[in-house]
Amino acid sequence: MKDTHAYHIDGAVPETPENRPGPETWRETTVVGTRQPRVDAYERVSGTAVFPHDVSLPDMLHGAVLRCPYAHANVLSIDTSEAEKMPGVQAVITADTPGADMPWYQRRDKAYGRLFDKHCRHEGEEVAAVAAETPLQAADALRAIKVEYEELPFVINDDEALAPDAPPVQDGGNLAGEPSVRERGDVAAGFAEADVIVERTYKTPCQIHAPMEPHGSVAKWDGNRLTVWDSTQGVFSIQETLSRALGLPMSNVRVIGHYMGGGFGAKLETGKYTVFAALMARITGRPVKLFLPREDCFIVTGNRPANTMTIKLGARSDGTLTAMEYTSLGSNGAYRYNAATSTMAAYLYQCPNIRTEDTTVYTNTGKARPMRAPGFPQCAWSLEQAMDELAAKLKIEPVAFRLQNLPEKAQVRDGMPYTSNQLAACLQRGAEAFGWEEARKKKPTEGHLRRGVGAAASFWVYSGGPPSTVIVKLYSDGSVNINMGASDIGTGTKTWAAMIVAEELGVAIDRIQLEHADTATTQYATSSGGSKTVPSDSPAVLAAAVEVKKQLLRYAAEQLEVSVEDLELRNSEVVSRTDPEKKVAVTDIERLGRQGVVIGTGYRDPNPEGKVTWPFAAQFCEVEVNVRTGELRLVRFLGAHDSGRVLNRLTFDNQVFGGITMGVGFGLIEERVLDQQTGAMVNANFHDYKIPTMLDVAASHACLPIDHPDHEFNSTGAKGLGEPATIATAAAIGNAVADALGIRVTDAPITPEKLIELLHAQRKEA
Ligand code: MOS
Repeated sequence: MKDTHAYHIDGAVPETPENRPGPETWRETTVVGTRQPRVDAYERVSGTAVFPHDVSLPDMLHGAVLRCPYAHANVLSIDTSEAEKMPGVQAVITADTPGADMPWYQRRDKAYGRLFDKHCRHEGEEVAAVAAETPLQAADALRAIKVEYEELPFVINDDEALAPDAPPVQDGGNLAGEPSVRERGDVAAGFAEADVIVERTYKTPCQIHAPMEPHGSVAKWDGNRLTVWDSTQGVFSIQETLSRALGLPMSNVRVIGHYMGGGFGAKLETGKYTVFAALMARITGRPVKLFLPREDCFIVTGNRPANTMTIKLGARSDGTLTAMEYTSLGSNGAYRYNAATSTMAAYLYQCPNIRTEDTTVYTNTGKARPMRAPGFPQCAWSLEQAMDELAAKLKIEPVAFRLQNLPEKAQVRDGMPYTSNQLAACLQRGAEAFGWEEARKKKPTEGHLRRGVGAAASFWVYSGGPPSTVIVKLYSDGSVNINMGASDIGTGTKTWAAMIVAEELGVAIDRIQLEHADTATTQYATSSGGSKTVPSDSPAVLAAAVEVKKQLLRYAAEQLEVSVEDLELRNSEVVSRTDPEKKVAVTDIERLGRQGVVIGTGYRDPNPEGKVTWPFAAQFCEVEVNVRTGELRLVRFLGAHDSGRVLNRLTFDNQVFGGITMGVGFGLIEERVLDQQTGAMVNANFHDYKIPTMLDVAASHACLPIDHPDHEFNSTGAKGLGEPATIATAAAIGNAVADALGIRVTDAPITPEKLIELLHAQRKEA
């Protein structure tokens, strides 16, 4: 399909139909790969889509959570007697409520805390919950609960957590497991071989997921059956945790998540609020809705932890990397997570001698959660800036330097082949489309404005796979129903599913309906995270459609008295290849009419063994810096992405622009700020914690999909995109700033204040 949008580049025309990889039927597609508006676009923009936050049931109560105001404290006593007498209050629960004092875990994990823990290890830890007739009555009741706290000394800074006198956050101390170390070759020998070495320490901010829809649930009991509407990335995972927490068979727990207003990794876990809602609904015999206030979403529902990374890189004068040493420190917050960042450093470039070390500590801060490519944007910020610095010292153009050091095979285990790796194409074609060489030579300077360009590369490590089961039903009138368990977390899952079925069965998109993300009525799928929904579930959708088609052809063959092999499905008609007179419209297939429906079940096949199935990307940007004010303006951005086959070009572009926007927040704007005196977060709202708006992103965005189907990986040839879209962004900006000013900014976000200080220091030196 011809791309007409002014900001898109249409250089990424796939291979000719003859040499395009993949099954014959998908060499030329008419629906897959086009720009398809979302199947639920009308519902989303008209406000008729029912998000969990919109769910309102008859007789419903409203829940609220009382949280510890201190960074570290013991709860000595809780008195709920006043609160229980407040108008409208129907339930109050605490650690002292029978049935509410339970261990806390996710799915099949070991417990790592309690539902209510009287040892509060961070600001916002849960102390009590109430349910009342109205939200305001619930809020009033919280204020009437009397809690006696013993304040404890706290530690909120990662670099202080391991000091001998640091207050212990967890019983075992503040080191969250031994540092994880990866070693390859001989690092000392590698550096001895190097002609040029660079070494710096980089820091990245603690970033908050900040989804538009707050975290929350609505819980309702029918006898011993529980139904929960949850703003989640995966209903089946919530079902499993709830069933275990409440001691119910999984079949008694129904979780529905038809829409959700953003998660970015924060909504993979089950929230304690969901269990509170379920417990209070059981106590009162009425449905309970419990959504968190915005402040709580900033403080307790997760973050991308801050990281400190020291990277040392060595290369020979010909530009060959010889050694890398990489250490990373980050915090879980108060409970278990993993703040490691080193994966990309270990595998992005060919390097025989490597040592990486990741240390994770506990601090008295809100628990971290996976956030859009956990660890990777942090790593890119250090690795990709170090690569640029090294390239400059070697006097090698930075894109060429990267191309020179790309591995032939993934350096995992003894070297595993890739099913596909188009990183070189991302770098080369991205540079070409961006006008990289020209932009590097010609940097317009106007008054106190300086321009620069930067690039950064990345891969992503999760790739998807089984299990996934999908059912496709074709009704006697030719319309179709798709049944799949995956959540559409705003990324367009339902739309590509409809496109695949439309492609395979020749049914118009508007004749297709979807059932999804409901544990009681749809098929098992893993959570929508890890950028793996497309590669995990799209092959199951295709397999189900193929199954329907097979049956249809068999029924038509009986009716037309020809062999099945002779038939094909074209535009809702089954036609003989040899005798075009022999044909029957799908809706005239007699057996379909008698049966009422044809049902196909599709399963996700396993991935190839011993192969690496990662997506890749290179991003390019141009910045303009005002050297008098420190203001930075993004002039343009280009994302060149190898995510295998493009299923929907429209939502592909959406993901790339959205990922870049989130990366702009990470690189330039966002940062959790903690009060050093109290340990409390001081910018826990959208006024003080800024996320990028249209005024902060580049005026010109381009998306360049390499669109190289990976059919060795899976049957649709598609790889993931959601996380790859944000990994390289901040690093590319950092490199562009260095190009514009000759200043290497090591601490993200790059604020005007930091730039002014660094410019001042630069002038003093000169
Ligand atoms: Mo993602 S951080 O797996 O939603």
